[in-house]
Amino acid sequence: MYHAKAYSAASATSPLARTSIHRRDPSEHDVQIEILFCGICHSDLHQVRNEWSGVMPTVYPCVPGHEIVGRVTRAGAAVKGFRPGDLAAVGCMVDSDRTCPECQDGLEQFCPNLTLTYNMPDKHLGGVTYGGYSESVVVDERFVLHVPDHLDLAGAAPLLCAGITTYSPMRHWGVGKGKKVGVVGLGGLGHMAVKIAHAMGAHVVVFTTSPGKKDDALRLGADEVVISRNADEMKKHDRSFDFILDAVSANHDIDAYIDLLRRDGNLTLVGAPEKPFALSAFGLILGRRSLSGSPIGGIAETQEMLNFCGTHGITADVEVIPIQKVNEAYERLLGANVKYRFSIDMASLRAE
Ligand SMILES: NC(=O)c1ccc[n+]([C@@H]2O[C@H](COP(=O)([O-])OP(=O)(O)OC[C@H]3O[C@@H](n4cnc5c(N)ncnc54)[C@H](OP(=O)(O)O)[C@@H]3O)[C@@H](O)[C@H]2O)c1
Ligand SMILES: [Zn+2]
Ligand SMILES: [Zn+2]
Repeated sequence: MYHAKAYSAASATSPLARTSIHRRDPSEHDVQIEILFCGICHSDLHQVRNEWSGVMPTVYPCVPGHEIVGRVTRAGAAVKGFRPGDLAAVGCMVDSDRTCPECQDGLEQFCPNLTLTYNMPDKHLGGVTYGGYSESVVVDERFVLHVPDHLDLAGAAPLLCAGITTYSPMRHWGVGKGKKVGVVGLGGLGHMAVKIAHAMGAHVVVFTTSPGKKDDALRLGADEVVISRNADEMKKHDRSFDFILDAVSANHDIDAYIDLLRRDGNLTLVGAPEKPFALSAFGLILGRRSLSGSPIGGIAETQEMLNFCGTHGITADVEVIPIQKVNEAYERLLGANVKYRFSIDMASLRAE
């Protein structure tokens, strides 16, 4: 066991502050990673503030962070795919039972015994797992990803959650050439969805509540932009979408989007607001439409997504910040005022 610097929240109402945590010494299958960048996901904020208390209550202190890119500092004797000095990445999961049908299918994100990167029982040290707002992390090789080495690392970090969470459902629902695809909410997830859907060849329409993001949406790859608070603009797209990805972090009217689906169209929720939605049965019934959700993605698909982003030169548009600005960054997330992902430069933590 060794000590690592980290930032943690002591309670749902405390700001994040400097702390020291334990990490295990790497065992034979483990990779120890010096963290270079960690993205800030809205899930970090939901979890730190215990907004998901009904589903996964937060255990304090909480060290969030699941968009991790760094360099391998040590690799256990049985590790095959990584050597000291290699780039490495870790996303939302650090372990699973590896035996259940979901794991056998390579869909670890559905494993009933999944270990998320933070706020889950830590099998090795007891207590809960601690995430990437830290100078280093130790993870079993099976949950460590390879980052294409030509990608900007600060911008690559958000691929580990925002990238895979949008890539996976778009692959599942057949997004591609000839498909009209909507993306609701131009935040961290939304802007990745736009870039990826565009690269997949779809016709992409962004729905935003922020008129000031219109030019950015077009630059990121959208073909059209709709200001979702304008009912006339919404109406123009009635019954026309094959697929809509909803990446909004707060409650909003999802019926309005279901009405925009064509027959057999699908609306997938990746945004996970604190409170339940209201839903009219008729929107689904009348067009035989479907409503789904989707969590992150499996390890194999995460590597596929990283390779896809490598091929297409896709990274997140990031604002790189020192960790000392993390509380300010959370306030800006709440104001939908991020262009379009914060990426923490972990050199700022090492220097503290
Ligand atoms: N399913 C999963 O596996 C998974 C993985 C990661 C994250 N998530 C969840 O996905 C959600 C988005 O995460 P994120 O990191 O992308 O968040 P984010 O960067 O804060 O983006 C959320 C966007 O939602 C829109 N929005 C915010 N408040 C709104 C409101 N009251 N009404 C309508 N639109 C609003 C804004 O876009 P506009 O300004 O364009 O309107 C905002 O930029 C969060 O709930 C997060 O927990 C889920
Ligand atoms: Zn996330
Ligand atoms: Zn499993």
